[in-house]
Amino acid sequence: MPVSGRRIVPQRLIPLALLTAAAIGCQSTVGTPSPAIGLTAVVSAPPVRADRGMVVSSNFRASQVGREILRAGGNAVDAAVATGFALAVTHPSAGNIGGGGFMVVRFPDGNATAIDFREKAPLSAHARMFLDQAGEYSRAIHHNSHLAVGVPGTVAGFAKAQAAYGKLPWERVVEPAVDLAGEGFVLTRSLAGSMARIVEGYPQYPATVAAFSNGGVPFAAGEVFRQPDLAATLARIMRHGHDGFYRGETARLLAAEMRRGGGMITEADLARYEAKERTPVRGTYRGYDILGMPPPSSGGIAVVQMLNILEGYDLGAMGHNSAEYIHHLTEAMRLAFRDRASLVADMDFVDVPAERLTSKAYAAELRDGIDVARAGASAPSDVELPLPYESQETTHFSVVDADGMAVSVTYTLEQGYGSKIVVPGAGFLLNNEMGDFNANPGLTTVDGLIGTEPNTARPEQRMLSSMTPSILARDGELVAVIGSPGGRTIINSVLQVILNIVEFDMNIQEAVDAKRLHHQWLPDRIRIEAGGVTAQTVRELTDMGHTVVVRGSQGRANSIMIDARTGERLGAPDARAPDSGAAGHN
Ligand code: DON
Repeated sequence: MPVSGRRIVPQRLIPLALLTAAAIGCQSTVGTPSPAIGLTAVVSAPPVRADRGMVVSSNFRASQVGREILRAGGNAVDAAVATGFALAVTHPSAGNIGGGGFMVVRFPDGNATAIDFREKAPLSAHARMFLDQAGEYSRAIHHNSHLAVGVPGTVAGFAKAQAAYGKLPWERVVEPAVDLAGEGFVLTRSLAGSMARIVEGYPQYPATVAAFSNGGVPFAAGEVFRQPDLAATLARIMRHGHDGFYRGETARLLAAEMRRGGGMITEADLARYEAKERTPVRGTYRGYDILGMPPPSSGGIAVVQMLNILEGYDLGAMGHNSAEYIHHLTEAMRLAFRDRASLVADMDFVDVPAERLTSKAYAAELRDGIDVARAGASAPSDVELPLPYESQETTHFSVVDADGMAVSVTYTLEQGYGSKIVVPGAGFLLNNEMGDFNANPGLTTVDGLIGTEPNTARPEQRMLSSMTPSILARDGELVAVIGSPGGRTIINSVLQVILNIVEFDMNIQEAVDAKRLHHQWLPDRIRIEAGGVTAQTVRELTDMGHTVVVRGSQGRANSIMIDARTGERLGAPDARAPDSGAAGHN
């Protein structure tokens, strides 16, 4: 059965017989109604099935590149690296070679590893580098300047992972991206629209305007988009691997742009950058094993911590997105985000009590502080802050191969199109990841930044992240590959996809489609996706003392699950990303 690439899945609201006017949406699949599901349902399309391998990403062309690599005899690491390079061409808002991220790999024998290719602070970085000349914190410097650019890690991470665990020659996995950039591809409406916004919004960066427009005129959907400078940079990477980015022509061009724009990164910073192999965070939940990313990501620890707390309650019996369910999740989220803010940072620089944070004993202590009927008893959010905006412009992709090797990758430029700075002559975007360091020691901003000491900028430290590439297993068998973009919401999106599988027996597409919610301790608000709860549920939560905001969408959780009966790979592209796609290998 040819299982193909692109599947755009508009969610159709199907009123079931039990619908009431007050009900505004939970999700189920017709044919498998769950008693735990609320009063309305959105029909999820069935997941994409394939016998051997699966690649799911936010861009269908990149997923197809990964599938081609599987067909060519590559394993899941080869396919993931090829998909990652292809996303740098076809999904420029988040796919990247100028950013960084994390990869969790589970081998068919159950062993696992994690590759940390998070950006680093340059050698001349310091905790007060985001203050202006008057000594005031400057959001513009912190997030939108050459000083906001961290030393990129993606190429080092991909090179390290592929050399250690891939099977194909390096050139073979980079080549499809070189071709896509050089020969071009037809623009979708969504990508043409997002590029037009960058072209119109950043005239101060001529190389950016040149890269994403046709001589200054935005491209229209249906036109062919070619990136010759990016193709040349990717070709150097294809020929010289790690050094094709961190030394020579590419490094020179990047350092020159830093000097021109007042940034800190030098050729010495680039030459010193190394990706790191780390031991994944491990946890358990009701017989399932969770593999997650350790610091500098906070994601693995926080997900395990919340699952440990929630294991003490019968969430399944509460009903999906019922007030009781949302209350319990929210209280666990408060606790995990409080600990994240005060204790978690790059473990190469700061002692992180990871073992305690992920222990069942600590979770039991925390659970004792939770009031099952009243908001905020365990971790009061006594600072009032507005809800920060979380862009979705990171990207997650999942890969499983015929042998059962699983790869979970989340990588990013931080905000959409990162710093918006394209390196002149090299055609790639630079991240603005330094914005993930705390603004200034002691400073808590209206955006929810927290001025705790561990995550302040130091030379070569990696900034704290929420990216949470995860893998679920049970009894030694692979179950699912999960992750999402969305800033701090990532952690909660991954938590909920796991709970949807374990507690509510959802298939992977239902688990991805189901409406999600987010609380991050500060500010004290629960944000629930539009259509995710009934008005009655909001009233019940408010009565418990919660502040609830129902709006927007949360994450793009491109995931894969294994059919336990047939062994098939089930791909679930997240329809919240318009160009997402699952490509199956049969
Ligand atoms: O590493 C992180 O947690 C963030 N830089 C991820 C950013 C993201 O998901 C999109 N938006 N802020």
